[in-house]
Amino acid sequence: MARVQDKVAIVTGAAMGLGAAIALRLAEEGAKLMLGDIDADALETSAANAKAAGAEVETLVGDVTEEGPAAALIQGALDRFGQLDILVNNVGGSRNSKIWEMPVEDWDHTVKLNLRGTFLCTRAAVPHMMERKAGKIICLSSGAREGTPWTAYYQGGSAYSACKAGVHGFIRDVALELAEYNINVNAVGPGPIDTERAGATLRQMNETVEYSPNHMTPLGRLGQPKEVADAVLFLASDEASYISGHTLAVAGGR
Ligand SMILES: NC(=O)c1ccc[n+]([C@@H]2O[C@H](COP(=O)([O-])OP(=O)(O)OC[C@H]3O[C@@H](n4cnc5c(N)ncnc54)[C@H](O)[C@@H]3O)[C@@H](O)[C@H]2O)c1
Repeated sequence: MARVQDKVAIVTGAAMGLGAAIALRLAEEGAKLMLGDIDADALETSAANAKAAGAEVETLVGDVTEEGPAAALIQGALDRFGQLDILVNNVGGSRNSKIWEMPVEDWDHTVKLNLRGTFLCTRAAVPHMMERKAGKIICLSSGAREGTPWTAYYQGGSAYSACKAGVHGFIRDVALELAEYNINVNAVGPGPIDTERAGATLRQMNETVEYSPNHMTPLGRLGQPKEVADAVLFLASDEASYISGHTLAVAGGR
């Protein structure tokens, strides 16, 4: 029996990076998928990979930091598959700069990207999960929730760290609110992961700077997207039925 056989899962930001890896891993373990992203072409590629792994897949192109597209993503899953079991709030990212020179627009952009979509998708998904008294919600936090030395030292990352600590606070509270409805709400906190977007910068840092990701990470290497996807899969499965309100570090020992 596959680990999420016939469960219906939504993954936001599923076109690239960790979202694509999470979608593929859930597909390999039997889930039916509703995948959302703003990048239509890359989303089709990700959907094709999930289909090749045996999944039924629906896609929706839209910005989940806005109310309409976030609600449409949830409704799209219900329309196509009739239920929703798993929501993965993966969309996030950062505009980095040192605190003394960060434009207010960059602060606002980062807060919106990491927190607003997570809030909007969760709000839209939970009435259905509450009715069925079942559901798993997994959000993408980060090791940055406690500060990231290499980012802080060389670029500045306070907006991103504040947001990812915010994701931890979000899942702590929502887990309490939804406990009586048998809905598990958790996060994963990845360390430096070798994705298409972040990988090049992380590898360059490993070659050029003293406080590098490899140097500051006990396991001494970058993580792979699949290693994060495996942790999300665990939290989405029945194996994690007594875990809620927890941020699982997938950060090479940091
Ligand atoms: N890569 C890492 O090292 C790392 C480490 C810790 C945490 N994270 C977190 O993991 C998550 C995924 O990271 P990633 O590195 O794969 O990111 P990424 O930038 O590579 O991919 C993000 C995906 O989301 C999509 N997207 C962006 N804005 C969107 C929006 N408003 N609506 C819908 N889709 C949107 C993009 O098109 C892209 O496909 C993020 O929350 C990130 O903060 C990543």
